[in-house]
Amino acid sequence: MRFILSFVLVLSAVALLTSCGAGGDNQGSEYAPNMYHSVAYEPYSQIVDEDAGRWLTSIDYPDGHAEFFNSNKFNPFRMNLREAPENTVSRNKNGWLPYRIPKDSLDYASRTLKNPLDSTAAVVADGKVLYQMYCNHCHGPKGEGNGKVSEKYNGVPNYNSDALKNITEGHIFHVITYGKNLMWAHGSQVSPEDRWKIARYVKTLQK
Ligand code: HEC
Repeated sequence: MRFILSFVLVLSAVALLTSCGAGGDNQGSEYAPNMYHSVAYEPYSQIVDEDAGRWLTSIDYPDGHAEFFNSNKFNPFRMNLREAPENTVSRNKNGWLPYRIPKDSLDYASRTLKNPLDSTAAVVADGKVLYQMYCNHCHGPKGEGNGKVSEKYNGVPNYNSDALKNITEGHIFHVITYGKNLMWAHGSQVSPEDRWKIARYVKTLQK
């Protein structure tokens, strides 16, 4: 009995250890591999080996390749994703080009930029949520410059001060994007659309 038990133990230990072998083109033993390897074309991963995964299935693919082959023979480098044409600039889902006004041109941004979002209650409501996430802790819930952080971080202004009460939404957008003096830039964390929503909300705090 004891012999059988230790035999089974040794056997399962061996099975466990050998099944871990994976590397290079060998993915080792996998349970339900279809869960890990997409049969559909994936934009960012190419499997160019036409035999990859042939051992797994009895399906004969009509074009001769095996299960995991996942690359496009007709595109450069067999990529699934087409490369953008030369000299094209990516736009976001709203069709907006990247923000190009440089940091030191706040006046220009204030004068020329218009908030592209409609004036709807939903935009303001989204802006409020975003403001509470990104601005509240310094600028305070009503924009009075009295957020929790301002207790230790001097110089957070009141949005209703004479200097700020008439600033444009473009001005606010620009400051969120690049920061100003003690205020750090938020452009990398907050998308342009969300920055415009926040700008719209900040204007409501000034009334
Ligand atoms: C870490 C604290 C902090 C955070 C977070 C912060 N701010 Fe500020 N903000 C400041 C400080 C400090 C100033 C004053 C900058 C200066 O010296 O002119 C300022 C200034 C401003 C101004 C006035 C700019 C001007 O021209 O004088 C606006 C508008 C503004 N912030 C909007 C925002 C918005 C919107 C957010 C959220 C996306 C935000 N800030 C997040 C600290 C912060």
